[in-house]
Amino acid sequence: MVDSSGRNIEYLRISVTDRCNLRCVYCMPECGIENLEHDEILTFKEIMLIVKTVSQLGIHKIKITGGEPLVRKGIVNLVRRIKDIDGIEEITMTTNGVLFGDMADSLAEAGLDSVNISLDTLNSKNFNEITRRDCLDKVKFGLKKAVELGLKTKINCVPISQLNGDDLIDILKIAKENPIDVRFIELMPIGFGKSYSPVCNEQIFEQIEQNFGTLQNSKIKHGNGPAVYYNLSDFKGSIGFISAISNEFCDTCNRIRLTADGNLKLCLRYNNGVALKPLLRSGISKEQLKRVIENAIYNKPSHHGFNSSDTENIELKNMVQIGG
Ligand code: 5AD
Ligand code: SF4
Repeated sequence: MVDSSGRNIEYLRISVTDRCNLRCVYCMPECGIENLEHDEILTFKEIMLIVKTVSQLGIHKIKITGGEPLVRKGIVNLVRRIKDIDGIEEITMTTNGVLFGDMADSLAEAGLDSVNISLDTLNSKNFNEITRRDCLDKVKFGLKKAVELGLKTKINCVPISQLNGDDLIDILKIAKENPIDVRFIELMPIGFGKSYSPVCNEQIFEQIEQNFGTLQNSKIKHGNGPAVYYNLSDFKGSIGFISAISNEFCDTCNRIRLTADGNLKLCLRYNNGVALKPLLRSGISKEQLKRVIENAIYNKPSHHGFNSSDTENIELKNMVQIGG
């Protein structure tokens, strides 16, 4: 459906858990965050009802996120059930890849169309430092399985000066040798992300062109999102840049988010969504639910205003609680 700013909202990101098996330093403290209790999290039945409702409002693409979505029990079944809903054309997932390799066959069989694997470095020392866990090999296995199964695969890499600034060329070699897009996501000043500084795009561009030649603009549509893509000769995959801060893309934003505890979030930066869980648990009718969601989407904020100094309704949660 079209919102009050004229944007076609067609994409829902569903965070199915706020738990994660990694502890990336720009996302979480070492001790983790205080997790939601089980009964605070939407049940699969509740998620299904919401997806059925939004599908009637023109949303046809679903992304499953977390925390780490693969730590939620029964997730393969949820993927299958969502994919079966009338009007849902595409279901994808963002995962840290640690458990993906072992679950990839069943996820593909359940109908998963594509996967985004978060990977900031191929240097195992830096990987362990960033994620505070020693499982780079598992993530690599996940990537290998994704390609073997023919899933459309992307890598999400957050370039951070102090952490992986020197590892970006190595990561890009994955796109040279495999049909995998590597996307550089500009660090957003959310939660622990505020303590680090992003590597600026100009610097990444320069590094890439020094190593691999001129970046050529890609005209093909690669996904649902705001990434700007480039090609390099001899590369099987493309190179994407998602720059929410330096290159605001709110005027083409097509997405809404559902948090694990059932908050319909209209914009990443604001915390004033609609709490759907109490409505669902007090027996709202399907028709009323549809009206509530329709009204919320219509009133989606026109832009995030990260570059402004307003502080009203600003999201204070960490990325692990939002799902990226
Ligand atoms: N800014 C940008 N991206 C972030 N991610 C986590 N925190 C931030 C942040 N502050 C990324 C993860 C993962 C995706 C879900 O979000 O690295 O790729
Ligand atoms: Fe987990 Fe992703 Fe946060 Fe890392 S960035 S701790 S993988 S949710």
